[in-house]
Amino acid sequence: MERIAIYPGSFDPITNGHIDIIKRGRKLFDKIIVAILCNSSKNALFTIEERKEMLRNSLHDMTNIEIASFDGLLVDYAVERKADAILRGMRAISDFEYEFQMALMNRSLQRNVQTVFLISGLKWIFISSSVIKEAARYNGDISNMVHPFVDKKLKEKFGFSNP
Ligand code: COA
Repeated sequence: MERIAIYPGSFDPITNGHIDIIKRGRKLFDKIIVAILCNSSKNALFTIEERKEMLRNSLHDMTNIEIASFDGLLVDYAVERKADAILRGMRAISDFEYEFQMALMNRSLQRNVQTVFLISGLKWIFISSSVIKEAARYNGDISNMVHPFVDKKLKEKFGFSNP
């Protein structure tokens, strides 16, 4: 039986930290569905289509990855997609409380879907999509934190791309 995990998030935009979790998750699962939450309360910089394009480019060399989006409850989507697990990355202790609460809530809503946590690679512990956007907004060099395609998209978004 194929083991499927959903890796959910906002991915606004995808960072090297996310890529690291996906790469390592591939060793545990046969297929990973990278799923963008559509109805997020966060104010997104990129549209869902732009985020999908950045995911496709950042993950183009990986097999057994599907890029998708979902609305509503994550566990409902996991059941619909016949996923065995929800994959989440944990960067620091500060992530723990939120992740713990979400994992327990998801488990009480749907007992058949397990949450699997991977500890973020040390190199990526301090990054998030927000800090990368903040740096990119002022033309800071974030080229070692995102895929070159994402770097280009951020530059375009903030008006720093070459003519
Ligand atoms: N490396 C770098 N950054 C990482 C990371 C990693 N390994 N893992 C997470 N992050 C960052 C993200 O960039 C993001 O940063 P930002 O806040 O600056 O944008 C932050 O950590 C957390 O974002 P993300 O992982 O995208 O999660 P989220 O909190 O936006 O959304 C969902 C989490 C989608 C899983 C959750 O909201 C959800 O399931 N929603 C559906 C409704 C539902 O079922 N809710 C639960 C039960 S009520």
